[in-house]
Amino acid sequence: MKHTLKYLKPYMGFFFVILLAKLTAAVLELMIPSALGDILDIAAPSGSVSLIVRYGLKMAIFALCTATLNMSSNITSSHFIHKAVERLRQDLFQKVSTLSSAQLDDVTEASAVTRLTSDTYNITQMLIGCMTMGIRTPILMVGGIIVALQEDVMLTLVLFLAVPMVTLVAIHGNRIAVPKFRARQAASDHMVRTVQENVTGIRVIKALSKTEHEKKRFDAVNADLAEKTMDASLVSSKKSNTNILILNLMQALMILVGALRVNAGLMTAGKIVAFMSYFTMITNAALNIANILMMVSNGTASAQRMAEIFEKPQDLQVQDIPQDENPCALEFRNVRFSYLGQADNLENLSFRLEKGQTLGIIGATGSGKTTLVNLLLRFYDVDEGAIFIHGQDIRSIEDGALREKFGVAMQSDFLVADTTQNNIDFYRHLPKENLLEAAKIAQAEEFIREKEGGMDYPLAIKGANLSGGQKQRLLIARAVASKPEILILDDSSSALDYRTDASLRRALSENLHDTTKIIVAQRVSSIANADLILVLEDGKVIGQGKHQDLLHSCEEYAHIARIQMEAVGEEVAHCG
Ligand SMILES: Nc1ncnc2c1ncn2[C@@H]1O[C@H](COP(=O)(O)OP(=O)(O)O)[C@@H](O)[C@H]1O
Ligand SMILES: [Mg+2]
Repeated sequence: MKHTLKYLKPYMGFFFVILLAKLTAAVLELMIPSALGDILDIAAPSGSVSLIVRYGLKMAIFALCTATLNMSSNITSSHFIHKAVERLRQDLFQKVSTLSSAQLDDVTEASAVTRLTSDTYNITQMLIGCMTMGIRTPILMVGGIIVALQEDVMLTLVLFLAVPMVTLVAIHGNRIAVPKFRARQAASDHMVRTVQENVTGIRVIKALSKTEHEKKRFDAVNADLAEKTMDASLVSSKKSNTNILILNLMQALMILVGALRVNAGLMTAGKIVAFMSYFTMITNAALNIANILMMVSNGTASAQRMAEIFEKPQDLQVQDIPQDENPCALEFRNVRFSYLGQADNLENLSFRLEKGQTLGIIGATGSGKTTLVNLLLRFYDVDEGAIFIHGQDIRSIEDGALREKFGVAMQSDFLVADTTQNNIDFYRHLPKENLLEAAKIAQAEEFIREKEGGMDYPLAIKGANLSGGQKQRLLIARAVASKPEILILDDSSSALDYRTDASLRRALSENLHDTTKIIVAQRVSSIANADLILVLEDGKVIGQGKHQDLLHSCEEYAHIARIQMEAVGEEVAHCG
C-alpha cells in the first residue's frame, strides 16, 4: 500500500486544496436542512414574501456552492488519481518486462495481466472512493449527528436506531457480496480463456471435428458465468432492498414521533422536515462508509498483489567473473539446470564450438533442447557449471550486449500484423539490403516476390495469411538479418520440405562464415553436416560427435537416422 500511495505524492499540494474544498462543501451541506426548516418555521409564517425569497436564496446559494465545490474537487481528484495510476501501471509494465523467466513462471502470465488490468482498476476505485467520499462522509456523519442533537434529542435517538442497522446490513451484505463478485470475476476470466483458446485453436478444433465438444465446453462456462453473475446481483439487490425497507420504516417512525411532539407543542413542522434531511444525510453517510470499507479492502488486496511484483529482486544480475583462460567461441562446461529445483532438466552438459562452427541438437520432445537455448540466452541461470562466449561467462555480460550477440528463431516466436519487411526487421532499423539478403538466405525471397507488394505485403495477425513453411522462413530471415555472432534456430525448419531445408543449410554455411550456429532439429538430415551433434534424452547427452561417428556410437541416433531415411525414400518414391 505504501508503494501505491507513493504515486500520489506529486499531487499532494492539489489534494490539500481539494481537501479544503471538500471540507467547506460538507460544512455548507450541513447547513442546508436548517435553512430549509427556517423557511417553513420563520419565513413562511411571517407572511413576508421578501423574507421567504431571502431564505430561499440563502438555501439555493448553499446548495449551489456545495454542488460546485464537490463537483470540481471530484473532477480534479479523479484526474490526478488517473494520472497517478497511469504511472503506476506504466511502472508495473516496465517491472513485469524485466522479470526473469523464472520469476514470470512463478507469477504466471495470466496473473501479470490481471495485475495490470483488474488490480489497477481496484486501486483507482479505492482512491477515487476515498477522495470523493472519504472526506465528506465522516464530516456529514459526525456533523449531522451534532446538529441533529441540537435540533431534537428525541428524534436523534430514532436516528441512532437506524444508523447501526443500516451500517450492519451494508457491511454484512458486502461481506457476502465480495466473494460472490470474486467468483463472478473468476468465471468471467475462465470464459475469456475458453474463447481465447477457441479463437487461436479454431483450425485444430475444426480439423479434429471437436466443434461440438468445444460448443459444450463454452455452454458450460457461459452457464457458470450467468449463474455467478445472478448470484452476485441477488446479494446486492437483497442488501439494498433491506436497507431501503429499514430506512422507510425508520422514517415512518421518525415522522410519527415528530408528529406526536409537534402535537404536544415540543417542536415545529419545519424542524421535522429539517430532521428528515439530516436523517437522509446521515444514513447515506453510513452506507457510504460501508462502501468505502469494501473498496479499501479490495484496493488494499490489489495494492498488495502489485507490491509483490515490485518487490521482486532483480534476478540475473551481471556478475564480476574473470575471463576464462582457455577461450573458444562458445562453451558449455558441466552445465546442470532444473526449472523447478526438482528433477534436472539438463545435466552434465559440456561442449565447445569454434567461431563459425555449427552445433546440431536432436532429441525427442521434452528432452531439453529448448532448455539449452534458454540457458544460452540467459533466460534462466545455470544451477551448476558455466556457459562462456569467447571465454566470458555469460553472467558477466551486460543484458543488452549479451542479447545483441544472438539471432534467434524460437518455436514460440510469431509474426505480427505488419509488412513482410517490418516482420524481418522487427523494428531494429536494419539496412534494407540486410533484410533482402536475409530473405534470400532464409529461402524466402521467391515467395515474397510472388506476393502482391513484395516486401510491403501485409501479414495478418500471427502471419495467418502465410503457409507454415513461409512463416518459418520469415522467422529465420529475422534471425539472420542482424548478422549475429551466434545464430539459434530452434526447430524452425520443421515445416520446410527436404529440398528447401537443404538449400537453407547451404545458404547459411556459405553466407554466415563467422556466425556460430546452433540448429535444433527433428530431422537428422538438417544437422548431418554439423561440426558437432548433441543427442539429448531426458536432459542427458546420450551421444555427442559428428554424424558418421554417431551412426556407430549412438544407437538412438542411428535408429532415428534409419527410420528417417526410409521415410525420405518413400517420399521420394511417391514424388517420382
Ligand atoms: N518453464 C518451465 N517450467 C518448468 N518446466 C519446464 C519449463 N519449460 C520446459 N520445462 C520442462 O523441461 C523439459 C525440457 O523441455 P524443453 O527443453 O522445452 O524440451 P524440448 O526438447 O522439446 O525443447 C520438459 O520436461 C518440460 O516439461
Ligand atoms: Mg523445444
